[in-house]
Amino acid sequence: MKIEVEAGDIRESKAGAIVVNLFQGITTPGGATGAVDSALDGAISRLIEQGDIKGKKGELTLIHTFGKLPSPKVIVAGLGKSEKFDVDAVRKTAAGVARFARRSGARTLATIVHGAGIGGLDPEACAEAVTEGSILGAYRFLKHKEPDEDRKDLDGLTIVEHDSARLEAFKAAALRGEILATATNAARDMANEPANHLTPSDLAARALELAADAGLQIEVRDRDWMEEKGMGALMGVASGSIQPPKFIVMRHEGGGDGTLAIVGKGITFDSGGISIKPALKMEEMKGDMTGGAAVVAALWAIGKLGLPLNVVGIVPTTENLPSGSALKPGDVLRAMNGKTIEVINTDAEGRLVLADGLSYAVEIGATEILDIATLTGAATYALGPYAAGVMGNERGLEEKVVAAGRAAGERFWPMPMFDDYDDLIKSDVADVKNTGGIPAGMTTAARFLRKFVGDKPWAHLDIASVDVATKDEGVITKGATAYGVRTLIHYARQKVEEPAASSA
Ligand code: BES
Ligand code: MN
Ligand code: ZN
Repeated sequence: MKIEVEAGDIRESKAGAIVVNLFQGITTPGGATGAVDSALDGAISRLIEQGDIKGKKGELTLIHTFGKLPSPKVIVAGLGKSEKFDVDAVRKTAAGVARFARRSGARTLATIVHGAGIGGLDPEACAEAVTEGSILGAYRFLKHKEPDEDRKDLDGLTIVEHDSARLEAFKAAALRGEILATATNAARDMANEPANHLTPSDLAARALELAADAGLQIEVRDRDWMEEKGMGALMGVASGSIQPPKFIVMRHEGGGDGTLAIVGKGITFDSGGISIKPALKMEEMKGDMTGGAAVVAALWAIGKLGLPLNVVGIVPTTENLPSGSALKPGDVLRAMNGKTIEVINTDAEGRLVLADGLSYAVEIGATEILDIATLTGAATYALGPYAAGVMGNERGLEEKVVAAGRAAGERFWPMPMFDDYDDLIKSDVADVKNTGGIPAGMTTAARFLRKFVGDKPWAHLDIASVDVATKDEGVITKGATAYGVRTLIHYARQKVEEPAASSA
C-alpha cells in the first residue's frame, strides 16, 4: 500500500473513498465531517437525525456521493465516546475502515487523522496510528489462493491534513507507522506460511532479504557451527528432522553503550516430536516460529527507524518432528552454557532451542535480553486470547515490556517468578528437566529459561495465547497475528527516548 501525506481539503480528493469521523452523541458534525456533510447537502446530519449514524465505536457507514464530491464514496467512522478515545482507538478505527473500504470495493482511500483535532492526544501519534492501523487492517494472506478479483487489496492511502504547518511532522509520523505495520505484516507472512513453504532455510532466506533491505549485518549459521559452539539442546531438537537447522544472528549497530539481545523461538513446525501432539489443530503449529519471525521483523524495523542503540536479533530455528533419529524422552542434552537437560517431553522443545539462543546472547556480551516465543499452551489456560505473559528476573524490566506493549496496543501481563517453582523442574539425572508437569506451566517454562541468561537483566514474552486469531478484530486479522513485533519495536524506542530510565 502506497502511503502519502498531503495538505489540503479532503472534499477535493479523488480517492475511491474518503474517510471522516464522528464521536458518539454529536448531532451537528464539525470540522472535515461538517464540510463533507455540507457538500452532501446534509446527508450525514440527516442520517444522524434518523438514528442511522450514532458515532458508536466501530460503527462504519458508507454514503455514495453521486457526483456531489469528486470521490464516489464517503465512509463515516464512529469513534465512540470522546472521553474514552485514545491513540489505540485511532489505530483500531483505521484498521476497521481499511477492511470496510476493501469490502466496499475501494482501491484507494483518503482519510483525515482521527484524534488530531481533539485536545489531549498528540497529533503526530495519531498520524502514526492511522497509517499503522490502515496497513495492519488491510492485511490478508492470499498467497496460495486464487486472486480475489471482486475485493482487490487496497493500494493507496492518502492522509489529508488541512493545516499545512503539520505536513512535515505528519509525513515523518506516517513513515514510522508504515514501518511498524510493514514489519508486523512481514512477520504475519512468515507465520501464516505453511511449514512445507517455510523451512528453517526459508526463514533464514527471509531474514537475509530483510537484513539487506534495512542495512543490517547478518550471519546464518549451520549445524557444524552449532556443533563447535556446543549447542546440544538446539541440535537435539533438530535431530528428528531432515531439514537442516539454522542459527540466525542479525545486528543493528546504532551506537551507545550496551547491546540489547532479542531471541525468538523459530520452530517452523512443532509436531511435538516423539511426544507427539494430538491431530486436532496441529496445523496451527506451522506458526511456532512466530517469536523468531517477530525478532527478524523487529530488527528490520529498528534498522529502518535508525534507532540509536545496538540490537542483536537471535533466532535458533528447526523443525520438531518424530523419526528414527529424533530426540527421545529421557535423553540428556548439554546446552551451550554447559548445563545438562533431561528431556521429559519432546514437545517442550521451544525452551530447548531458546536455551542455546539465550546462552549465545550471554556469550556475545548482551547487556539486556528479551526473548519471545509461542512457548506454552498454559499461556492460553491462564490468559485466553486477551493478553500475553511476561516473566523475567527483574520486576522493572517486566514493567517496561508491559509499557511498551501498552504503547503498541498489545497486552502483556506479568506472571509469578518465585524461586520455589524451580522445585518443579529439578531432575534426578541432569541439572534441570524440560517440563514441570501441569502446575504453573507458563512459569516453569520461564524458570527453565532463566537458567540460561546468567546474571543479565532478562524478560521472556510468552505469546502462545495470542499468536493465532480466529476472527478479524481491530488491527488483528484472522490467522497469524504477529503479536509482539510492535511491542519489541516500542521497547527499543522506549530505551532511546528515556535513556535515564533504561538499564542497558
Ligand atoms: N508450541 C507449543 C506451545 C503452543 C501450544 C503454542 C498451543 C501455541 C498454541 C510448545 O512447544 C508446547 O508444545 N508446549 C507444551 C509444553 C509441555 C509439554 C510442558 C504445552 O504447552 O503443552
Ligand atoms: Mn512443543
Ligand atoms: Zn513449540
